[in-house]
Amino acid sequence: MEVIICKNKDEASTKACEIMVGIVKENPKAVLGLATGSTPVQLYAKMIEDHKENGTSYKDIQTYNLDEYFGLDQSHPQSYHYFMCHHLFNGLDINMDNVHVPKGKGNVEEEAQKYNEMLAQNPLDIQLLGIGSNGHIGFNEPGTAFDSVTHVVDLKQSTIEDNARLFFDGKIDDVPRQAVSMGIANIMQAKKVLLLAFGEGKAEAVKGMVEGPKTVDLPASALQDHPDCVLIIDEDAAKLLSK
Ligand code: F6R
Repeated sequence: MEVIICKNKDEASTKACEIMVGIVKENPKAVLGLATGSTPVQLYAKMIEDHKENGTSYKDIQTYNLDEYFGLDQSHPQSYHYFMCHHLFNGLDINMDNVHVPKGKGNVEEEAQKYNEMLAQNPLDIQLLGIGSNGHIGFNEPGTAFDSVTHVVDLKQSTIEDNARLFFDGKIDDVPRQAVSMGIANIMQAKKVLLLAFGEGKAEAVKGMVEGPKTVDLPASALQDHPDCVLIIDEDAAKLLSK
């Protein structure tokens, strides 16, 4: 794991943007694994800025998102599909036929299976990740097997609380209790992993991921085995690291 500690979220998002744009420029048909949540919002704004200023094109880029809430339609303002359109896709020249977000409604088990097949046929050039305060990646909560693939998950209470704080106008009862998420094995198959973490609330999870034992109790610790994993974190998220 390469750990890059930045002064703040802005500096970290600029570095992350350089990596993402670099991949798109190198291979205009690249396959990007994307994340939602508060962490990548600034990065996405910078990617849009770069597209507008420098003309980086996404017209042949394919994207696969990590996860989606169970039971929410794509058009629901709290769905991750909606989030991605709002924060990234609407600002790029991306072809929406090349955009993939797990389906949270309908026959989700069958759709999850199809998602795995699509991922197998379209290996991810990079997977962007945030990290949960409990160490989850995607919505792979503590206890998820490292060989898991896209599946329906029960969200932990701490995740429901974290997400109610940042989204859903603080209404905890509105946060779905389940989600569909790529598994840890899908994430590990990406050629490169780029994980961002900001703020003191992530410091313990970051320490466990980098310095702790590899354990299903901290899903992000699986990344210790990834051959090309870069962490870009701010000073607050890095504050418990010993080295
Ligand atoms: C999002 C995702 C989650 C988030 C994590 C951190 O698609 O899969 O793992 O990355 O919950 O969320 P934020 O960024 O809101 O702190």
